Amino acid sequence: MSSLSERPTNPVVGQEIPHESAALHVTGTALYTDDLVGRTAGVLHAYPVTGGHAHALVTRLDPAPALHVDGVVRVLTAEDVPGINDAGVKGDEPLFPSEVMYVGHPVAWVLAETLEAARVGAAAVEVTYEPLPSIVTVTEAIEAESFQGGQPTVRRGDVEAGIARAAHVFTGTFEMAGQEHFYLETHCSIAQVDESGQVFVQCSTQHPTETQEIVAHVLDLPSNAVTVQCLRMGGGFGGKEMQPHGYAAIAALGATLTGRPVRLRLNRTHDITMTGKRHGFHAQWRVGFSSDGRVEALDATLTSDGGWSLDLSEPVLARALCHVENAYWIPDVRVNGRIARTHKTSQTAFRGFGGPQGMLVIEDILGRCAPLLGIDPVELRWRNFYTAGQDTPYGMPVRHPERLATAWNQVLTSGDVLVRRAEIARFNATHEHAKRALAVTPVKFGISFNLTAFNQAGALVLVYKDGSVLVNHGGTEMGQGLHTKMLQVAATALGLPLNRVRLAPTRTDKVPNTSATAASSGADLNGGAVKDACEQIRARLAVVASGELGVPAADVRFEDGVVTGLGGGETTWDELVRLAYVQRVQLSATGFYRTEGLHWDSSTMQGSPFKYFAYGVAASEVEVDGFTGAYRTRRVDIVHDVGDSLSPLVDLGQIEGGFVQGAGWLTLEDLRWDTSDGPTRGRLSTQAASTYKLPSLSEMPEVLNVSLLEHAHEDGAVYGSKAVGEPPLMLAFSVREALREAAAAFGPPGTSVDLASPATPEAVFWAVEQARSEHDERAHVVEGSPGREPEQPSPSAEPMRPSSERVQPHVRSGV
Ligand code: MTE
Ligand code: MOS
Repeated sequence: MSSLSERPTNPVVGQEIPHESAALHVTGTALYTDDLVGRTAGVLHAYPVTGGHAHALVTRLDPAPALHVDGVVRVLTAEDVPGINDAGVKGDEPLFPSEVMYVGHPVAWVLAETLEAARVGAAAVEVTYEPLPSIVTVTEAIEAESFQGGQPTVRRGDVEAGIARAAHVFTGTFEMAGQEHFYLETHCSIAQVDESGQVFVQCSTQHPTETQEIVAHVLDLPSNAVTVQCLRMGGGFGGKEMQPHGYAAIAALGATLTGRPVRLRLNRTHDITMTGKRHGFHAQWRVGFSSDGRVEALDATLTSDGGWSLDLSEPVLARALCHVENAYWIPDVRVNGRIARTHKTSQTAFRGFGGPQGMLVIEDILGRCAPLLGIDPVELRWRNFYTAGQDTPYGMPVRHPERLATAWNQVLTSGDVLVRRAEIARFNATHEHAKRALAVTPVKFGISFNLTAFNQAGALVLVYKDGSVLVNHGGTEMGQGLHTKMLQVAATALGLPLNRVRLAPTRTDKVPNTSATAASSGADLNGGAVKDACEQIRARLAVVASGELGVPAADVRFEDGVVTGLGGGETTWDELVRLAYVQRVQLSATGFYRTEGLHWDSSTMQGSPFKYFAYGVAASEVEVDGFTGAYRTRRVDIVHDVGDSLSPLVDLGQIEGGFVQGAGWLTLEDLRWDTSDGPTRGRLSTQAASTYKLPSLSEMPEVLNVSLLEHAHEDGAVYGSKAVGEPPLMLAFSVREALREAAAAFGPPGTSVDLASPATPEAVFWAVEQARSEHDERAHVVEGSPGREPEQPSPSAEPMRPSSERVQPHVRSGV
């Protein structure tokens, strides 16, 4: 156990407490950025001027008519920018563009006394466009060779030799859709300027420091003239890692030019049509298996749909490449990555950050190839798991692979998988028009930012004379429970009851140079920093206590607000703090944390970029209706690894929420872009909750059992915990694989079906049709060809027949 991971006796971490704002959330009293409008006098409202072209030059922009609209105060255009006219860090995202790159791209912003006046004003701004040819789909981009950014490759061994060695080789292509974040709170900023020109932006941002930097470069100010605060977010999910900056800059620019507070909040239609989403990916692959179903080699090219600008597409792609093997040992690998430039929103971070897309490639391959190999998918996955001593394709040792095996076995046992699969086989044999299936899939997810420099955090802990504690840290709260965990960490490190510790909103003038709250690393990084600050204060107080209690400082214990000298007397925390103040001992500290032992070379795509892996396993059972493709998720069993949990209820919520969000991505949420050649080309047709199907209560699994993996202490992280934010999303692969197997059950044994992603009922229907046509084609096949006996854990319920070798599975792209 390291000193970072070691817990004192009776720690506050590990206690089951509700989210610190749970009561505020459910009573509507929690303040979000936009709630500040009603509390701020003289606010102006901003509204975008947008057009309907996927790609066009702006040939004329005349704001004058807008200024005649009652209530309009000012129109912001490129001429108003004193600094750099760019909303990003790559220099490819003009804040006020002269070339429109997607439908709805804002070219100017109108400020008015009311939102309605701003809207009318925006409609009055005259803009002329010269339309240009556009690229809307990733396949169009591949054909046109429209790419952006670097084209990295992860490789190990000799992929051609691996393929040559393989007994079975399959090739295929696969396209998976993106996903809209659909956080409940849309993007929002309120900016104010004080008498000295200091800019204060309240913003719904996961990355206050970067918001600060971009506001500063747009306004041509140094960072010390800009402060960004984030009270909390009503969800971020990665969508507020890069995307808030430009909107914050518009509000700040408006505030500096008018001297009045400016509020910019996107309405839902604007948010969904203007802001980036999860990247859809296209994958082309060739895989070789040994005769006993071991993956020998994988050769793949992943092309992400980056949209109009780079944004976070490069790191997202890097994470996809670093997760393409998921939990499986593949000796010879070559995976190329590239980023398509398309005339769509600029795709960005989304829970999992490319990891899900990379992992889906191998899970799809295994799901498609298992029937062709004649090996039960549960067995095929298990057989390929990493074992101790093996490295990832990018050269990082896989630590604790046995924990994944434990989780796998636990799910098989607690989920009664063998018995239920036998029941399912009986059900399927007696139901012609409904089929069930149960699939089990693993998750292995690397924790830390790939870019080593981001793995640092700071904190500022203040102890007041009355003994109460105020904690500032660099992380933002988006519902994930980071603040709850940080309160627990501070209380544990100071030996205080939870109610003595309070959290202040995240601000760049309290903790500078912070990383985004992202990559699930918020608790690891900020927890390390908060613990460091608290321990400095505790060490100073121990010296004071030592003098008071007559024991060595090392023998002073802090627990639950009581300070005890081993073998000596005791005093209270409050009394000790009072004494320390009188003795002129500093009662505040800044804390710092950097994750040790990381290195990553992005030019060779080799290194150990992650501190550890988080593991998880899910078993999902579905039932598919053969007439419509409609389905239900009957039961889900999850065992997930959060190390020694910092906050078990919070972690449980993260696992459930992540799983459901993943199931939404894979089975329901269907982003449709207009790919016609008509005037609405490039328009997002699914712009609202009415057309974009989100998971809701009615799609929840009928039974959802979640357990935390036991004996999972993580030595390298704060109080032995592991990150939880993103990994559970990928547990939802099990739902997709179950749908595939249920669809296949409409065909003869051994049927391999291609399933579009998202596997909407419509897509499942087509998979069912595909399986049925397999029946017709094979009607004349002689029964009783030799089956393969699956080995332990042997959950196979039906005899399997290998189908013809060297089949080239082929995926219907889209539906
Ligand atoms: N949970 C809630 N409720 N809301 C969110 O926006 N974002 C997810 C995850 N869980 C999110 C969430 C994403 S994308 C990440 S990276 C992590 O939380 C970030 O927080 P952490 O680093 O504190 O886990
Ligand atoms: Mo999360 S996608 O890293 O914000």
